[in-house]
Amino acid sequence: MYNLSQSVTWNKLQQLAEKTEDQRISDAFVEDPQRFEKMSLRLDGLFLDYSKNLVSEEVLAALMQLAEHSPLRQRRAQMFTGDIINVTENRPVLHTALRNRSADPVEVNGRDVMPEIRASLDKLKIFSDKVRSGEWLGYSGKRIRDVVNIGIGGSDLGPNMVCRALLEHRHPQLRIHFVSNVDGQHINKVLSSLKPETTLFIVSTKTFSTQETLLNANSAKSWFLQQAVAGDVAKHFVAVSTNQAAAMEFGIKRENIFEFWAWVGGRYSLWSSIGLPIALSIGYDGFIELLEGAYEMDQHFLNAPLEQNMPVIMALVGIWYINFLGAETQAVIPYDQALHQLPAFLQQLDMESNGKSVDMEGQPIDYATGSIVWGQTGSNGQHAFFQLLHQGTRFVPIDFIASLHSDEKAAEHHFALLTNMLAQANAFMVGDTSADTKTHASCPGNRPSNIILMDEMSPKNLGALIALYEHKVFVQGAIWNINSFDQWGVQLGKRLATEISANIKHSSTDYDPSTQGLMSIVRQHLATTTKTKS
Ligand code: F6P
Repeated sequence: MYNLSQSVTWNKLQQLAEKTEDQRISDAFVEDPQRFEKMSLRLDGLFLDYSKNLVSEEVLAALMQLAEHSPLRQRRAQMFTGDIINVTENRPVLHTALRNRSADPVEVNGRDVMPEIRASLDKLKIFSDKVRSGEWLGYSGKRIRDVVNIGIGGSDLGPNMVCRALLEHRHPQLRIHFVSNVDGQHINKVLSSLKPETTLFIVSTKTFSTQETLLNANSAKSWFLQQAVAGDVAKHFVAVSTNQAAAMEFGIKRENIFEFWAWVGGRYSLWSSIGLPIALSIGYDGFIELLEGAYEMDQHFLNAPLEQNMPVIMALVGIWYINFLGAETQAVIPYDQALHQLPAFLQQLDMESNGKSVDMEGQPIDYATGSIVWGQTGSNGQHAFFQLLHQGTRFVPIDFIASLHSDEKAAEHHFALLTNMLAQANAFMVGDTSADTKTHASCPGNRPSNIILMDEMSPKNLGALIALYEHKVFVQGAIWNINSFDQWGVQLGKRLATEISANIKHSSTDYDPSTQGLMSIVRQHLATTTKTKS
């Protein structure tokens, strides 16, 4: 039985980690003046500089060996082929098929699914063209001006992040809004500025059973029916779901349901009809460019040698930090305000995929897995948490991301943005330990980072960037031998929320004293507010 943490290579990496104590990244550049050229990769409009990492060629070689001895190659082939690698839900994992731009078939249960994927894209095109052109009219005969996507998790974070990132490419007369939180403030704030006659709602939910989304969708319908009639719902509500029956029961016409499939994970679904808000915002052609960028990264991930493979490199360097240098978190700091929602998207992608503690065989594992992903845009982070990163006691690897090109109107701002990012990555590495620096001002440096430069914020480059992180997460999961595609941990909270909301109206000893006490406080508050209202 292969036990990763007992393997020869794992032990070798543990020994190498002990030597790292005395190594400085900046010295490595002196020892090898070609380090930057050797430790950077380009794929079309994406450039990765991983030379500022705390890794030697010896460490990289050992990490590559870890990858070679892992299920990575086999599982990568199985994923793209459509084998059932999501073993606990008995499903294939085929978000890559959604952006397959080749003529090659992809089979699920012996059937080529590419025809239905293409049909779903055709449906997306027809509908998004109609709304964007003004052909699709609301109940009062006016074109749609506002689209409200109602969804949460993967039915929100991906399309939301992409629409924000590509705001420069948006339709000038169509505003896309996103409602996700069950907190009524979220939907009420969005609806307060909208008119039912010119608003289109997209109810995005893979299962059509998520409490937050259903409550928000029903509140949206109530708001809508204050000024419209039931017969008008069809013109203003569409759904994106795998659960057609539930969507129709909600009142959405069959032809207004954009389907996708169980073999697309929620956090990997923006390439499916869940990406409808994206197509509405940037147009169908822009959405296809996004898919093309991801497809290009897929081909790179599939075909590039592991040593020249962007997702593999980022995954292995991450494993080195997590499993051998004790990093518990990974900071993602986009020096690009358009990417301010990227850290939140990557939190679900990484932490819901690799936040696991049993292996593919259901056995407990004895090594760390997914790290805590967090972040904020630069340069804001410099005035918030960079102090801890520079002088704190924590070891926090950083991914910096920026676009080279910017809108000419903001050239001076963009110059400041880029130079700040380069300065920070340099400062984290070299620090400032000069003799005349008082201890309280001394920065130890030797704090590693990846730098990802996109030529420009285009749908194609963004698609490649997202797929890069998807495959990084995949590689780490394969090496850790965990199932990155289920999420059983979120079911307990969902179940208990349903139970507590049903039980809160009467005292119950089914819960711990804290929960009982809190339920009693809420119950009393509810009783008071109900009495006041009556
Ligand atoms: O967080 C649990 C989860 O199931 C995510 O995986 C998913 O993206 C989200 O909830 C929303 O699920 P649905 O799209 O089915 O409403």
